[in-house]
Amino acid sequence: MTVEPDAPAIAVLGSVNMDLVTTTARRPVPGETVLGGGFAMVPGGKGANQAIAAQRAGGAVRFLGAVGDDVFAGELRGALTAAGVSADRLRTVAGPSGIATIVVDDDGENSIIVIGGANARMTELAEDDLTAIAAADILLCQLEIPVETVAAAARHARAHDTTVLLNPSPVRPTPAELWANVDVAVVNSGEAEKLGAALDAVAHVVVTRGAAGADYRGPDGARLSRPSPQVEVVDTTGAGDAFTGALAAAWHRGPEWALTWACAAGALATTRLGASSSIPAREEITAALAAE
Ligand code: RIB
Repeated sequence: MTVEPDAPAIAVLGSVNMDLVTTTARRPVPGETVLGGGFAMVPGGKGANQAIAAQRAGGAVRFLGAVGDDVFAGELRGALTAAGVSADRLRTVAGPSGIATIVVDDDGENSIIVIGGANARMTELAEDDLTAIAAADILLCQLEIPVETVAAAARHARAHDTTVLLNPSPVRPTPAELWANVDVAVVNSGEAEKLGAALDAVAHVVVTRGAAGADYRGPDGARLSRPSPQVEVVDTTGAGDAFTGALAAAWHRGPEWALTWACAAGALATTRLGASSSIPAREEITAALAAE
């Protein structure tokens, strides 16, 4: 994989999970058993997905996170390195890796339960993690690792002029100090509603709206909306991660271009099953935009 000489350096601090994906015509209601269609194990986790997405969309990415010492660890590490992501700050801790149980229905909609495993053990940032954050152009985080660790990383990034991009997913109680250190927040419309006024502290807010595209609100009140390319949806899992990683990779070109680039990446990710396995390469994003 070629990395452009001017590729932004992106430190992604976050989770890595093995996704256990079951497909079914429709998801069961409480108390109901249904017969499923298929099963696959696919590397995922919002952190790893966004790291792979940012790398494939044109960034130079270093991943900061943890796997366990179980059977999944090798494959999870391999998914990152195969995509070209630097995984020298991916530590191995005793115990299980993160796991996500995912059910995808015929409409491509999903339900996900995440068990943190090694991700929950990301309670400390080592000196080398802090150095990586300070050296990066962008720090990209989510909330599948302890919030306190994300807050410490954002504080360090702000002190070293590293732009902080936060995808606060899953939404959890978050200290005001973290919001004060976030430059760009990426949320879906449900998360935007849950977070409400907390987002007012953030200069740049991007709200994803699925097939309808994405909206942007800037520091001076500037507003933008971008449509999403229309595609045949197979599985929406990881589409938000593909969007967010691509946005981080294109952020240096300005919000308008970054939104356009990210909408194309997110749409392409819905056309294939799985999270990390569905993330498009830069060439695919370019081709999709050229075809519009
Ligand atoms: O955003 C999709 C991801 O959420 C999945 O890969 C799963 O691991 C959960 O973290």
